[in-house]
Amino acid sequence: MTFKALFAASATAALLLALPANAAELTIGFSQIGSESGWRAAETSVSKQEATKRKVNLKIADAQQKQENQIKAIRSFIAQNVDAIFLAPVVSTGWDSVLKEAKEAKIPVVLLDRDIDPSGKDLYLTAVTSDSVHEGAVAGEWLAKTVGEKACNVVELQGTVGASVAANRKKGFDTAIAKHANLKVVRSQTGDFTRAKGKEVMESFIKAEGGGKTICAVYAHNDDMMVGAIQAMKEAGLKPGKDILTVSIDAVPDIFKAMVAGEANATVELTPNMAGPAFDTVAAFKNKGTVPPKWIQTESRLLTAADDPQKEYDSKKGLGY
Ligand code: AHR
Repeated sequence: MTFKALFAASATAALLLALPANAAELTIGFSQIGSESGWRAAETSVSKQEATKRKVNLKIADAQQKQENQIKAIRSFIAQNVDAIFLAPVVSTGWDSVLKEAKEAKIPVVLLDRDIDPSGKDLYLTAVTSDSVHEGAVAGEWLAKTVGEKACNVVELQGTVGASVAANRKKGFDTAIAKHANLKVVRSQTGDFTRAKGKEVMESFIKAEGGGKTICAVYAHNDDMMVGAIQAMKEAGLKPGKDILTVSIDAVPDIFKAMVAGEANATVELTPNMAGPAFDTVAAFKNKGTVPPKWIQTESRLLTAADDPQKEYDSKKGLGY
């Protein structure tokens, strides 16, 4: 072999070694919830980007918000004998039978971004999620600090009924504000994590609260509902971010656009990259037998109008929001 050929061969070998442990050979089925929010769209798009980086063959099934579609997708992935299944569970209950089927087929399941009931703990390998109770607590603490001693009536837009993140974000927020007698949640309803429902529910809150005069703050379980609520406030002649404070979760580009315009105050970031760590975990498990911890926690960052929202907006380009 000539020196040139030898160099080319070792360069190729070095490239192969740089890839995460044989991820290139994996076929993974991902049962995704749907596209209810900007964050969800980004999670789908980042999952594809992370799969491409690792040469994983990723098959995504969009469940259009229906658990029955997710169950069908999981059964189809089992029939295809994929190497692993990723599941973003729309609700937290009702998974036991289908996850038992995956376990019997020896296909590891990884939960992404949402949890299932503790009874199902033995049925999945690991969960890559944020601490959603903590996210709610961060939102509540920010609000308590911002309003100080002033009496403050809060309206809450909850996420999808039955979703782990909706229950947890409520719990975290309620616990944080319970320490402050001046803060009270006066109305709370689901907006199903969508912009349209967030707007609709906020309109009804404004009507019921004297045209919004008795509302001091809105807490939304995601930014998309908040973007809808901001629109409702503006249409009612209110100044969101000033007359009524806003705090929500996700850190999607549109909430930073609203912050730049002075119409939103705070958000708690949820990374859309849950799949990257999940691919690496599955590769290590399959190839080296490395058993991961039951929970791989992603970071939650509070971002406010004081944190250069234009820069945050710009940094989210190309992520599929
Ligand atoms: O499970 C994560 C949540 O689901 C996001 O915060 C929300 O935008 C999405 O719909």
